[in-house]
Amino acid sequence: MTTILVTGGAGFIGANFVRFVLRHRPSYRVINVDALTYSGNLENLTDIESDSRYRFVRGDIRDGAAMAALMDEADAVVHMAAESHVDRSILDSTPFIQTNVGGTQVLLDAARKSGRAGRFLYVSTDEVYGSLALEDTDAKFTEETPLAPNSPYAASKTGGDLLCRAYHHTFGMDIVTTRCSNNFGPYQFPEKVIPLFVTNLIEGKKVPLYGDGLNVRDWLHVDDHCEAILTVLEKGRSGEVYNVGGNNEQSNVELTHAILSLMGCGGEMIQYVTDRPGHDRRYAIDASKIERELGWRPTRSAWPGALRETVEWYRTNPAWWQRVKSGEYRRYYEQQYGG
Ligand code: NAD
Ligand code: DAU
Repeated sequence: MTTILVTGGAGFIGANFVRFVLRHRPSYRVINVDALTYSGNLENLTDIESDSRYRFVRGDIRDGAAMAALMDEADAVVHMAAESHVDRSILDSTPFIQTNVGGTQVLLDAARKSGRAGRFLYVSTDEVYGSLALEDTDAKFTEETPLAPNSPYAASKTGGDLLCRAYHHTFGMDIVTTRCSNNFGPYQFPEKVIPLFVTNLIEGKKVPLYGDGLNVRDWLHVDDHCEAILTVLEKGRSGEVYNVGGNNEQSNVELTHAILSLMGCGGEMIQYVTDRPGHDRRYAIDASKIERELGWRPTRSAWPGALRETVEWYRTNPAWWQRVKSGEYRRYYEQQYGG
């Protein structure tokens, strides 16, 4: 049995990744360590919580002693615990620096000192590259694009990303990094644009579109991302970075109209609001390296089908997002773990 320590496994991508690994790798065990911040939700994992190959540990990646103990049980680490929302980082960057930079350093040191933990995979983001111009429609981020993060969130993820590079270079640690575009799918916290817009419309509320709505994102289904992470973990070359993307660029206006149409709503439900400060204009990923070297490519992200399925998931799981939006979802683990 191979044991993977997943950090942040109670969040959106983490919960989907834990489920993906248990389903596709019968010889793997997963230890999920998560601090259960506002976005960590054990309800994302209720269907697998009694699986004998799965264990949850409530813990903070900034806690060196706790991370050292977990490293002694792990054959590999998939590190995705993070403060993940750009808008929150604009309001207060403190937890972003503490978790995304400081927490990553604590984890790296715990892994380095452990006699057991092998490969360390860092789940980074395409936001480390900054922004492309809208007019330059052919440009894409490659792994060689200079790092130029624009938000406090992106800068904090870049800090973690560069620490991984440095620990590989300096200490010879076996580290691989993925830099992925925007994910969509089930269990995404409804502060992010797709679940926010879908759930607002179900509630009869308008959707707040930032600025002129022309910003472009490259959308990837979360299960494609999970498969890419597992592929890089198992087959990636040590010290390498792999871009991951859906080849599925949509402007926010296009995305919004697609959601409105799936929900049977009209353009009057759009409310144009003040733009996000420093709002990156366009992200587009060149994912040819992971395809060429490791044979991964997205197979679940094509629109409109994948978007329709995701919208349908939120429509058929109102109890999940209503508890998240009302804050009621915290009761379950407060009963189990306190505070
Ligand atoms: P999320 O906010 O849904 O989940 C983050 C998880 O990390 C939560 O369960 C939270 O409780 C946990 N966490 C936060 N601080 C912690 C700490 N100090 N110690 C332990 N656990 C802590 O985020 P997500 O959207 O699932 O993103 C997961 C990772 O993927 C992040 O590293 C993010 O930067 C990266 N990423 C996200 C996307 C995307 O589109 N969502 C795209 C590319 C990369
Ligand atoms: O690109 C990868 C990144 O994608 C990840 O690293 C981040 O963790 C993840 O949050 C996501 O960042 P974005 O800022 O792109 O995602 P968000 O869902 O917040 O916004 C997507 C786009 O929609 C962005 O251009 C801003 C816009 N938007 C967002 C919200 C929340 C709106 O127009 N209105 C909104 O209310």
